[in-house]
Parts: sequence; C-alpha cells; structure tokens
Amino acid sequence: MPLSEVRRKAQPPNFSQVEFRNALGMFATGVTIVTARTPEGQLVGLTANSFNSVSLAPPLVLWSLARAAASMSAFSTGSHYAINILGADQKALARRFATRGVDRFADVQFVEGVGGAPLLAGAAATFECFNRSRYEEGDHVIFVGEVERCTHRAGASPLLFHGGKFYTEHPL
Ligand SMILES: Cc1cc2nc3c(=O)[nH]c(=O)nc-3n(C[C@H](O)[C@H](O)[C@H](O)COP(=O)(O)O)c2cc1C
Repeated sequence: MPLSEVRRKAQPPNFSQVEFRNALGMFATGVTIVTARTPEGQLVGLTANSFNSVSLAPPLVLWSLARAAASMSAFSTGSHYAINILGADQKALARRFATRGVDRFADVQFVEGVGGAPLLAGAAATFECFNRSRYEEGDHVIFVGEVERCTHRAGASPLLFHGGKFYTEHPL
C-alpha cells in the first residue's frame, strides 16, 4: 500500500454505544474491588472488572478508571492501591462498591496492606500494588500497578460478570 493510503486516524464508529457495550459484555470477566487509603486516612474503593494481567517479570497488572469517577484524585495521586478479586459469595459487596451515596465500607472486614490500602476479608485473591504508571485514553485512565505482594485462597470460587449479570463458577 503506498504511504499516501496509510490511514493515520480511525474511522468514526459505525455502531451505537449500546451495541459497543453489548459486544464488550460478551467478554466474561472476574470482578474486583480496587481500594486505597488517602493520606487523610479516608478509605476509597470501587467495583472494577477492567482488571487484567500485564507482565510476569516485573509483576504488572492493569485496570482502568472512568475519568468521571469520584475516586480519581485518590487513585491518581496515591502511591499504592489494592486489587481484591471477589469470591462467588461477594456479589452484594460488588453491587455496593458500584453504588454512589452509600457507606461502602460499613461492616466490611479488612486488614491494612501496603500504603494502608484495605485488603478485604473473603477475597479470592489480593494484589498489593505500587501505583507505577497511568495512561489517559478516551474517557478512562489506565492504571498499571507493580505488584509488591499477592495472596490467594486456594480453591476459592470467583465471582464472574458477563452481559451485565453476575455469575458464579460452573466448571464445564
Ligand atoms: C461489574 C462492574 C464492573 C465495573 N468496572 C468498572 C471499571 O473497570 N472501571 C470503572 O471506572 N468503573 C467500573 N464500574 C463502575 C464503578 O464501580 C462505579 O461507577 C462506582 O460508583 C465508581 O466509584 P467512584 O465514583 O466512587 O469512584 C463497574 C461496575 C460494575 C457493577
């Protein structure tokens, strides 16, 4: 292809936002709650399924946060956060941490991880991350975390999310 024909810009989408969301919803994921503690001691946390692994050496993971999120300033300025992979029995927590105007941490048991980030009791796995880098893309910011510590509960069943609904694991 001659250089003059190389497209340097994507064409505008030929699909609606609803169609895009529905197509994305075909990708089944686990569910996480990403948590942190601000320098003032305030606990922050939200439900996120944009989590993914990036690199084994060094150990890197990523997740993305909507620019409009209330927790944006806490996560963009803090040195550490924790990613809690939810267990199958933590659906109520997943809903609560996606709801505004409620006390998300009420009666939630946790221990403090690196930088004070809450490690939620009953999580299937936890990743304690140094807030390594951030990339602004579209209406989200991609966070890359360098994992300083991680734990998991061997044999735990994870909570799953697909097509806008929560599921529990059913091995084929
Ligand atoms: C299953 C599920 C997955 C979600 N994943 C994300 C995500 O990856 N990133 C994000 O910014 N919001 C995600 N949300 C929405 C946030 O949890 C929700 O907007 C929350 O209120 C944001 O909290 P904040 O505004 O206090 O920061 C998800 C919600 C649900 C139910």
